[in-house]
Amino acid sequence: MWRYRELIPVPKDAEIVTLYEGGTPLIRVANLGRPLRLTNLYVKFEGANPTGSFKDRGMTVAITIAKYLGVKAVVCASTGNTSSSMAAYARRAGLKPILVVPKNGIAKGKMGQGLLYGATVIEVEGGFDTAMKVIMELANDPNVYPLNSVNPWRIEGQKTVGYEIVDELGVPDWIVLPVGNAGNITSLWKGLKELKVLGLIRKLPKVLAVQAEGASPIVKAFHNGSYVPESKVETIASAIRIGSPVHWERALRVLNESRGYALSVSDLEILNAQKDLARLEGLGVEPASAASIAGVKKAVDLGVIRGDEVVVAIATGHALKDPDVMLNYEVDRVVVADAEAAIKTIKKLVMSD
Ligand code: F0G
Repeated sequence: MWRYRELIPVPKDAEIVTLYEGGTPLIRVANLGRPLRLTNLYVKFEGANPTGSFKDRGMTVAITIAKYLGVKAVVCASTGNTSSSMAAYARRAGLKPILVVPKNGIAKGKMGQGLLYGATVIEVEGGFDTAMKVIMELANDPNVYPLNSVNPWRIEGQKTVGYEIVDELGVPDWIVLPVGNAGNITSLWKGLKELKVLGLIRKLPKVLAVQAEGASPIVKAFHNGSYVPESKVETIASAIRIGSPVHWERALRVLNESRGYALSVSDLEILNAQKDLARLEGLGVEPASAASIAGVKKAVDLGVIRGDEVVVAIATGHALKDPDVMLNYEVDRVVVADAEAAIKTIKKLVMSD
């Protein structure tokens, strides 16, 4: 993604801290699109980033700046992906990572990454919103450098997902993304608007924001006209289990400016989309990312997205992030006593095909 360096205002003499993030595959998903009568459906597979999520795009920039400023420790609140990414890039830069995460609220793969990188992991009761409060209160402490998307450098780096889509495909009709704290939607839009101001693109896409039914304050605000944070949030998509998104106002502005749309999807719809993407296309994404696919389906059903439109759904994180969810798919699991029984089972299966 650093080939877009001129569009990211890092100081010229800053030494870039990178794990060669970005450049993720944009994959046409014809099998998934066919039943929806969508001929131009694409998935931008952000799980292919070094720590398995889109967060690496913002983190390479923010940690580059942290190192440039000479800070010693970096902190973030996270539902798991920001923390994994921050821990990795902090180590790459020789900084100390401190993670604040909801107790029992992040997927195992993400917790494992924090531990692997040797971060200090602080688990708080009360979910992501409480963890975020901790970071906001620390914001004026000169000894800690916060790396949530309140840090504008994160927003700068995450712009590049939009640049890559436009480079490869031109401007699509729709870009679809799952929304939690709303940093990513803010960033995507900032980047695309800058391309337009520079005269590099002529139109802007419509943006479809997808939230989980049990954590959907932005979707409700979009439809009701007033924003009310949610204190009790629940969804299988733990990455977007957020009731009080920091950038809610910006998200609503994006939806308004892009003449976009917002909708929520149920956990069942999320799981079905995760399964479809894996089984029809071979693409493994975590539940929050599957929400954008479920959102596309719903938007087509509602007539919001038309069949002839070019649609790019951003799949924000890798399936391996959340092994518990994957291990619930028991469908074709056969336990046998020995090799002989295994061979018999395989032969029977092949015959019945
Ligand atoms: N998808 C995944 C996989 C995420 O991890 C997140 C956010 C989002 C979508 C939503 O992006 O917050 O910019 O609207 N994860 C944050 C974290 C909150 O701490 O990892 P957003």
